[in-house]
Amino acid sequence: MATTKDIRLKVNGVEYVRSVDVRTLLLDFIREELQLTGTHAGCEHGVCGACTVLLNGKSVRSCLLLAAQVHREEVLTVEGLATNGQLSKLQNAFWKHHALQCGFCTPGFLMTAQELVNKGEEIGEEDLREALAGNLCRCTGYQPIIEAVLEVLSSQFLSADAESGSIDSTGGCSA
Ligand code: FES
Ligand code: FES
Repeated sequence: MATTKDIRLKVNGVEYVRSVDVRTLLLDFIREELQLTGTHAGCEHGVCGACTVLLNGKSVRSCLLLAAQVHREEVLTVEGLATNGQLSKLQNAFWKHHALQCGFCTPGFLMTAQELVNKGEEIGEEDLREALAGNLCRCTGYQPIIEAVLEVLSSQFLSADAESGSIDSTGGCSA
């Protein structure tokens, strides 16, 4: 039985071709082979969410996947959020709301929240708390994280409303 597999995948828009041991976790592949150490290894049992990345736009725990499983797939890690050295809206909101302390959990929270931002669906605080419940933080007490993500989500709706003309230039409803 083959113990290695050739894989081709895109990570943060860059294509990689590698031969991997079939037992290599995606988490270890990202951190050790690609040297993208922003994705953190916490529990390594699918519990803490620190290893979260987006796989074809969906948040997954890279400690529960094998690198061999992502052949021909697209992965986004926390390093892929900033553009030309500029923090993303979510990263800026985390900074503004002091939504991190030690920062160990932060990449995982950012990637889970990025999936929500990409979906562009309206979501209330209670549902947001549920959506982020799979990510654990030992420092912040969660409130600033919730505030940061809510701010980005609600700003998307404000700009979408403004574009559709339902909000006038003064911020009032045009209906
Ligand atoms: S390291 Fe993957 S869920 Fe904790
Ligand atoms: S900021 Fe330390 S674990 Fe979340």
